[in-house]
Amino acid sequence: MQTSPKTAIILGSGLGRLADEIKIEQAIAYEDIPHFPVSTVEGHSGKLLFGRLGGHDIMAMQGRFHYYEGYDIHEVTFPIRVMYELGIKNLFVSNAAGGMNPQFSIGDLMVITDHINMLPENPLRGKNVPTGPRFPSMHEAYDPEFIRIVDEIAAQNDIKVQHGVYVATQGPTFETPAEYRMFRILGADAVGMSTVPEVIVAVHQGMRVFGMSVITDLGGFAEAVEVSHEEVTEAANAAQPKMTLLMKELINRI
Ligand code: HPA
Repeated sequence: MQTSPKTAIILGSGLGRLADEIKIEQAIAYEDIPHFPVSTVEGHSGKLLFGRLGGHDIMAMQGRFHYYEGYDIHEVTFPIRVMYELGIKNLFVSNAAGGMNPQFSIGDLMVITDHINMLPENPLRGKNVPTGPRFPSMHEAYDPEFIRIVDEIAAQNDIKVQHGVYVATQGPTFETPAEYRMFRILGADAVGMSTVPEVIVAVHQGMRVFGMSVITDLGGFAEAVEVSHEEVTEAANAAQPKMTLLMKELINRI
C-alpha cells in the first residue's frame, strides 16, 4: 500500500458520507480483516478506507462497532489497536448523539470536550497492553489544541459549534425522559452509544483525539420528546457537510 496515514477518522451513524470526499486508494471490507468484528447496524457499511483527504493520507473506518451489538469491549476497540500498529497518531471520532443541554438544537455540532463512561466495562480492563500505563490519565483526553483549531475553523466559516461533555451508555435503548434528566444532572450535554471506548484506548496509546457529536435529537427538557433511529440518521445526514469541512480543514492545519 502506498499510503502512510497519521490520522484516522471514525465515521459515526449517518456520517459515512465524509468518505465520499476521500480519494480512496484502498477499501477493505471488515469481513476480510482477521479478527475484525463485522458491523450489523443499518446505516453502517463496514469498510476500512485508505486514501487522501485534502492532500493528506488518511485512514477511515466507515462504520464502527458498538457494545450493544453484543461485542465485548475489547472487540469494540480492536480497530484502534490496529490503527496504532499502522502508525496512526491522531484519531478523529464522530457520532450522533441526543442533546440535553437546553442551549442545543437539533442539527448542532458539538465539539466533545470531555466524556463520562457509563458503559459497564472499561476497554483497558485486563492485562495492561504496554502502549500506555496501567492507570492512564484521562485528563484532556480530547486534545485542547485540536479543539482550539476547530473553533477557529468554525468561526472562519460561519459554522456554529457547541462544546460539551459526551456520556456513553451501552444502549440500545434510547433514554427515558428521567434518564436524560439524570445525565444532565451528572454534567453531560449529549448522550450516545459509542466513542468513549475508542477514545480510552486511543488515549492509552498516546494518540491525540478530536471528537464531534451531531445533535440528532433532544431530551430531558420539560416536554419529553420521542426519538427514532430514522430521525437520528436524517439529522446526522443534514449535518454532514459542516462536519466534513471542519475535519478536512483540521487535517490541513495539524
Ligand atoms: N441517546 C443515545 N444515543 C443516541 C441518541 C440518544 O438520544 N441520539 C443518537 N444517538
